Amino acid sequence: MNNIPGYTHGTASVSRSPVSLNDFEQMKASVLFGEEDVKALRMSHDIVKGRVEAILDVWYGFVGSQPHLLASFSGKTDGKPLGDYLTSVRKRFGQWILDTSSARYDQAWLDYQHEIGRRHHRVGKNKTDRAPSTDLVPFRNLFALIFPVTFTLRPFLAEQGHSAEDVEKMHAAWVKSCLLQVTLWAHPYVKDGDF
Ligand code: HEM
Repeated sequence: MNNIPGYTHGTASVSRSPVSLNDFEQMKASVLFGEEDVKALRMSHDIVKGRVEAILDVWYGFVGSQPHLLASFSGKTDGKPLGDYLTSVRKRFGQWILDTSSARYDQAWLDYQHEIGRRHHRVGKNKTDRAPSTDLVPFRNLFALIFPVTFTLRPFLAEQGHSAEDVEKMHAAWVKSCLLQVTLWAHPYVKDGDF
């Protein structure tokens, strides 16, 4: 456990995911995610763990450069970026990079995925940081961000001398993991019974 404010992975305050581990097994099969991907993600852990801040600089730069994305981190009434909110979320985002590359896909992980989904949706957004921001990260942006997040990660995966094949495997594993996670995060956005 670490001391990142609002990072509640593995704590009692996180509610049970409505998605079962069995459902998640099927999701893994749907995206062709297997043990090779787990290994590739672990390989990437050794790379990304020392580059978290540099990776976040790229991702935050991307979000900050697009007003419609920055809006989700801005004041609900005045539309001005909320520095404290951006900074608090950034710490948890950094932890997410480490978690994604070392995930064990157990019940606690699944439950925290649901919590992250809630934090993007109106049922949970802003609550963790008491941020006076917009009510919802629109789903259309959430899903689309999978591409820039994984595309811009690739150069980091390649910068420490791994073979082209390993870089490809690590990149594919990150794409699959992000697809799985954002699909889990979609739960609060999807009509009851349709997930
Ligand atoms: C929170 C990742 C898409 C806006 C977070 C957190 C992570 C994350 C790890 C912190 C979770 C925690 O509290 O532990 C991602 C990933 C995305 C994505 C991987 C896409 C692949 C987006 C998009 C936006 C966005 C498109 C809109 C610009 C936010 C906001 C929060 C947040 C506002 C804070 C929510 C709160 O109030 O707690 N995101 N995100 N995210 N993200 Fe995203």
